Amino acid sequence: MSGATMGARSAMSSPIPRLGSPSSSLLDDGVAAQEDELLIIGSAAGLANAVARVEQVAPTDAPVLLQGETGAGKELLARLIHSRSQRASGPMIRVNCGAIPAELIDSELFGHERGSFTGATGTRLGWFERADGGTLFLDEVAELPLAAQVRLLRVLQEGTFTRVGGSKSRHVSVRVITATHRDLRAMCAEATFRSDLWYRIGVFTVQIPALRERLEDVAPLARHFARKSGIALTGVPLVPSSEEIEALRRYSWPGNVRELAAVVERAAILGGGRRLEIAAALGDSVGGSSKPLSSTSLPVAPPANEALPTLDDAMRALIIRALGLTRGRVEGRGGAADLLGVNPHTLRGKMRRLKIEWSVYRR
Ligand SMILES: Nc1ncnc2c1ncn2[C@@H]1O[C@H](COP(=O)(O)OP(=O)(O)OP(=O)(O)O)[C@@H](O)[C@H]1O
Ligand SMILES: [Mg+2]
Repeated sequence: MSGATMGARSAMSSPIPRLGSPSSSLLDDGVAAQEDELLIIGSAAGLANAVARVEQVAPTDAPVLLQGETGAGKELLARLIHSRSQRASGPMIRVNCGAIPAELIDSELFGHERGSFTGATGTRLGWFERADGGTLFLDEVAELPLAAQVRLLRVLQEGTFTRVGGSKSRHVSVRVITATHRDLRAMCAEATFRSDLWYRIGVFTVQIPALRERLEDVAPLARHFARKSGIALTGVPLVPSSEEIEALRRYSWPGNVRELAAVVERAAILGGGRRLEIAAALGDSVGGSSKPLSSTSLPVAPPANEALPTLDDAMRALIIRALGLTRGRVEGRGGAADLLGVNPHTLRGKMRRLKIEWSVYRR
């Protein structure tokens, strides 16, 4: 095993995904594009460097670290790497490292044997076994607790592991891709991320620029999302005007492409599916996704003669509102936990208790 890549694997036939290059059918402006998960708009413009690096590294088995702000396209590029690799016909397992309780980390990584602890009613495969023959995408890797970082480093170094409660040493062939919006160098300096793990996963890094640093991509992205929204709402594609594109280019996009998609979709809904209300949609967005909810936006105290909502009801309303703004995203910068100023683990705990299901808001 070398780097974060485990084992050797024979080449498999890999369907090559279509990229939005000027010569392909998926043109940069995406207008002629079909529904395609791997449509990467801007691959010949603002994302050209990032995509070139992805193309260099994809066919190798080397570990890749994707860095970029929230919503910039890290997961999209991770999927591109997998689909352009020799492992394309194997599994691609995505794991959100920020969502795993520290006490379950061994079982999550390595799996467990039946009866190995209370509640282990059956044998469970861990991430590495499930990704065998394919790619393991460790998203939000910087959120891994330090104890889990040690475990991960060990399996990456040794290439073998045993299930919790098992004795058999297991070997799998897994390519590891990681992503984070955090500055791992700074985290290593302050000892919140292990530098030995950083060296191991960061053999090849791809930096995805923020949308405000590649304004040339705003127009093709906006045209793509407007087209999709129009078709979804009325069956007729919508087309933004040049003034509307200009207005979009003037915004700072703290939530990057995800936020742009949301603004354009909102603009299409506000326009009844027949036109785009970009100014109104942008007005709703400003300050919404980049700043914590201000105290002025908290529910206003009801008049004294009206019954107060319970604390749980008030909390439920706020959490639902934050999830609506982030489209169900709990972690990361601009995520619901960030907006509400709490730790993602804390927020998940409250959501569980209040029976709020994030996936309902994941549009
Ligand atoms: N260049 C692009 N072309 C088309 N769609 C894009 C592009 N970049 C991002 N998207 C879309 O924007 C959304 C956000 O992208 P993605 O999930 O890859 O971001 P991310 O960097 O992983 O964000 P986070 O840090 O919040 O997890 C997705 O729906 C993705 O398909
Ligand atoms: Mg992501």
